[in-house]
Amino acid sequence: MVQLLFICFILATLCYDFFMNSILNQQICALLEESDMIAALSNVSAAIKMSYANTNWAGFYLVKDGELVLGPFQGKPACTRIPFDKGVCGKCYRTKEVQRIDDVLAFPGHIACDSDSRSELCVPIIVNNVCIGEIDIDAPIASRFSEKEEKEMLQASWDIAQACLQHHWF
Ligand code: SME
Repeated sequence: MVQLLFICFILATLCYDFFMNSILNQQICALLEESDMIAALSNVSAAIKMSYANTNWAGFYLVKDGELVLGPFQGKPACTRIPFDKGVCGKCYRTKEVQRIDDVLAFPGHIACDSDSRSELCVPIIVNNVCIGEIDIDAPIASRFSEKEEKEMLQASWDIAQACLQHHWF
């Protein structure tokens, strides 16, 4: 009986994770039906910021003229331009890989747009094998981001890439 209850608990947890994940991603998909890039990404940044408790910044950096330029976001005013060789965002661009940083103070070259930030999740947006931008999220507590957020933002990044192609954003 105890074993059965344990199995039910595990299944319920897995289902909860699955559906909770997909709610944010479904919301993002709906917002990406808007064909204007600034309007759509503004709403996506708001959806991410509202869904993730304990975050102080959520938004986009977009590749323009050989650097990362600030896109739609929620949070305090941030650095407007980031060179490819600087910061967490620069590393995300260069490696085309997710940067999940548990302690930004221990990351050499971290750019502190907001001195409250303690952890960060940066996810590349890849279109036709080219990084065209990034989703960037900051939190005021260490180790805020787990595999759950990484998985959700990878899905969001893929959906944004599809929207880029569909709406001819780049
Ligand atoms: N922390 C980033 C800069 C962008 S802000 O977090 C909004 C970095 O180190 O690249």
